[in-house]
Amino acid sequence: MAFTKLCKLADLLQGASAAFALDGREILLLWPYDGALKAFQGTCPHQEISLADALFDGRVLMCQAHRWAFNGCDGRSVAPHFCQLAQYALRIEDGGVLVDVASVVPPDA
Ligand code: FES
Repeated sequence: MAFTKLCKLADLLQGASAAFALDGREILLLWPYDGALKAFQGTCPHQEISLADALFDGRVLMCQAHRWAFNGCDGRSVAPHFCQLAQYALRIEDGGVLVDVASVVPPDA
């Protein structure tokens, strides 16, 4: 695994999202009120539109294009119910947020 620093943890707020580009991929950090900071694919699985301008209320992420919605804790779709955002391995080290874009974390069973 090759982790790359995206930002400082101090630059993020719980309940908010932040979009980054790394190694040609869009990465979306979500820090839900009731969960840990996570790194997800930054494009919508519906039509691959960037989620950088998606609405995040601290619990649910809603794509601005056609309103598909995803749980901010695990990336599972809320509506419709058949897809999931890919999640990348993330770790926090020395106050930095690091992501491994080559990894995809399998969803919980
Ligand atoms: Fe996101 Fe259609 S592109 S819901």
